[in-house]
Amino acid sequence: MKVLLVNGSPHKNGCTNRALEEVARTLEAEGIESEIYWLGAKPIGGCIACKACDKLGKCVFDDKVNEFRELAFDADGFVFGGPVHYAHAGASLLGFMDRLFYSSGRNGIENPFRFKPAAAVASARRAGTTVALDDIQKFFTISQMPIVSSRYWNNVHGAKADEVEQDEEGLWTMRQLGRNMAWMLKCLEAGRVAGIELPRQETAVWTNFIH
Ligand SMILES: Cc1cc2nc3c(=O)[nH]c(=O)nc-3n(C[C@H](O)[C@H](O)[C@H](O)COP(=O)(O)O)c2cc1C
Repeated sequence: MKVLLVNGSPHKNGCTNRALEEVARTLEAEGIESEIYWLGAKPIGGCIACKACDKLGKCVFDDKVNEFRELAFDADGFVFGGPVHYAHAGASLLGFMDRLFYSSGRNGIENPFRFKPAAAVASARRAGTTVALDDIQKFFTISQMPIVSSRYWNNVHGAKADEVEQDEEGLWTMRQLGRNMAWMLKCLEAGRVAGIELPRQETAVWTNFIH
């Protein structure tokens, strides 16, 4: 089993990465393969609502979104992490996730995320992590993805990775998150082996609020 961990920060080896490393190491210790996927240092734009993904089966912009989507088919679980920018999740991570989940969730397009467990991680110098976690988790709750939690909100604090190193509670939270993710993956696999089927899907109902 494998977990993909997204580092949504422009810093390859910054605070978010340090938090994700702690989760990844714990997953490996629990026998779960892990890979950290960095979004890079260039800005990533959001969805332009062109709906070309309906026909293409992927985003019209052939960038990190489509690359990650292909990798996601082989993953069993996900962690999406990023820095807090202006008291919410950084814009590049949100732009990436908008296009990733929109182009993966359209009718008739194969969805690599549905029913796979996911967790959010946020890093801030000081404030805004719980808002950022809410931002990220909304992609999971519209995609039928079970959310993995820890013993505190999944955040670390620091401006540089060596400050996260000193955030003992933050790293403790990340290790518990890794163990909880491993446990959920093993439970889901045990259920699959025992013959528990995925929930039946009704034909989607689509209304614009009232009609
Ligand atoms: C544009 C910008 C906005 C930021 N806004 C906040 C903020 O609102 N609250 C906060 O605590 N830190 C803020 N920070 C600091 C980062 O969230 C913090 O240093 C984070 O841990 C960096 O993680 P990274 O190394 O993974 O990028 C901001 C940084 C930038 C570049």
